[in-house]
Amino acid sequence: MNLSPLPNSPLGVFDSGVGGLTVVRALREILPNESIIYLGDTARVPYGSKSPDTIRRFSVEDTQFLVAHGVKAVVVACNTATAHALTTLQTTFRVPIIGVLGPGVEATLADPACERVGIIGTAGTIRSHAYQHEIAMRRPDILIEAKATPLLVPFIEEGWIDHPALKSVLRDYLKPLLDKGIDTLVLACTHYPLLVPVLKRMLGQKVRLVDSASTCAAHVKAQLEEAGLLRTAKSKPTLELFLTDHSEQAENLAKRFLGGDFGRVKKATL
Ligand code: DGL
Repeated sequence: MNLSPLPNSPLGVFDSGVGGLTVVRALREILPNESIIYLGDTARVPYGSKSPDTIRRFSVEDTQFLVAHGVKAVVVACNTATAHALTTLQTTFRVPIIGVLGPGVEATLADPACERVGIIGTAGTIRSHAYQHEIAMRRPDILIEAKATPLLVPFIEEGWIDHPALKSVLRDYLKPLLDKGIDTLVLACTHYPLLVPVLKRMLGQKVRLVDSASTCAAHVKAQLEEAGLLRTAKSKPTLELFLTDHSEQAENLAKRFLGGDFGRVKKATL
């Protein structure tokens, strides 16, 4: 266990797979001097269809791995893991643990015009009611319509981002939300930032999109600043990528989510 996090230690980030690299991408934009160790649990992805107990157990193991690698803080880049395991992780580990949910809710409520919120995510995230609860606690007047959208992750992983079949699925998924007149749509899944262009074309200006990757990165920056944990070293920051199952498909997908290249992928054993 890392008892006293040091500013020049790397930031740890984990996700059920490689989707969390959308958060790493956003982190590298806003915190270009930070070194990052990323763990993708590709051997056990998806988490979205698993039971809360299993998601919590996997999340503890993922965090243990990162803490054993000396990280100064852990970013839970997975919405499903955040929804089910954040409290457990925060009470189990001594390093700061930051999830994607809080920043996403913050960004949702930052617009005072927000009155009708739609939330899309994995079955696990929506079933946990974590987003719905957090928003309702802070703004009981807001109408919330949440919808599990489990087919989106496979479409995105297949690269079918502009495919007519995806658009048809999206139309179906979004109909009940649009029928409720939502003005904001929370993209409560690591993969969904890749859908922003297609969603913008489908929804136009009338629905604001809240993407948890960039809001989470901004939150991490603020937390590190507050804790005096920003990296001060002048050497080039590093990105280490660990996967619990390493395949060519996972590596190609990782490049798409990160929007760039990385060094050699390392095999993680949890
Ligand atoms: N990373 C998951 C999330 O953000 C999506 C993939 C999965 O189901 O594991 O909810």
